[in-house]
Amino acid sequence: MIELHEITKEYHMGTQTVHALRGVTATIEDGELLAIMGPSGSGKSTLMNIIGCLDQPSAGTYKLDGIDVSQMSDDELARVRNRRIGFVFQMYNLLPRTRAIRQVELPLMYAGYGRRERRRRAEEALNAVGLADRMDHRPDELSGGQQQRVAIARALAPGPTIILADEPTGNLDSAAGEEILAIFDDLNAKGITLVLVTHDVEVCKRARRIVHLLDGLIVSDDSTGCDFE
Ligand SMILES: Nc1ncnc2c1ncn2[C@@H]1O[C@H](COP(=O)(O)OP(=O)(O)OP(=O)(O)O)[C@@H](O)[C@H]1O
Ligand SMILES: [Mg+2]
Repeated sequence: MIELHEITKEYHMGTQTVHALRGVTATIEDGELLAIMGPSGSGKSTLMNIIGCLDQPSAGTYKLDGIDVSQMSDDELARVRNRRIGFVFQMYNLLPRTRAIRQVELPLMYAGYGRRERRRRAEEALNAVGLADRMDHRPDELSGGQQQRVAIARALAPGPTIILADEPTGNLDSAAGEEILAIFDDLNAKGITLVLVTHDVEVCKRARRIVHLLDGLIVSDDSTGCDFE
């Protein structure tokens, strides 16, 4: 469970202070499929980085399964991140000139898995995203949708309980985006908590809960689903 209480985040730029988050309080239960929406600059990515333990809040508390993350050392944070949290980004963030299987194996190395277990998990994850026949392909030999699926396999392989995806379909056409969403549905059905930042109505429709951010604050938190149409 993710518990955010009065989270603020300030960026200091010379004499200027940017208040990216101004007091965000929310609880995300295990197994949720939640979409974060809001205009550009409203704090979505900032919030995702905090939830993902990539960044610490300026103030407020963040508890992950009851443990106060803000009290953790950098090493402990990195361990939580490597084992528990998977990230998927809009631009895929794959390594150039690196085969898919290797992209997926790398985080398993950081997580401390041995060579055979790395290979086994990487193959399993690539299978799960439908890329069994693309394991030896490099990013420039894959379509955008396939590259994003490699990125999902990479996020998935260490066995995270939470996957955070920031505009995962932002660069894809609707058919490729649909494939990505079907994979997310599948992962969510297996019990993985999914938090997605999106502008995409199709993503929004799949989410069971939509949180709207505006100027660093939650302006609505709705479990009745997508209010587009
Ligand atoms: N590293 C940083 N240093 C300074 N200011 C930052 C930094 N990161 C974000 N900001 C500022 O914080 C605010 C929130 O940014 P954030 O990236 O969270 O917005 P967003 O909702 O993800 O926007 P978008 O939809 O464009 O991705 C913005 O005003 C941004 O300029
Ligand atoms: Mg963003």
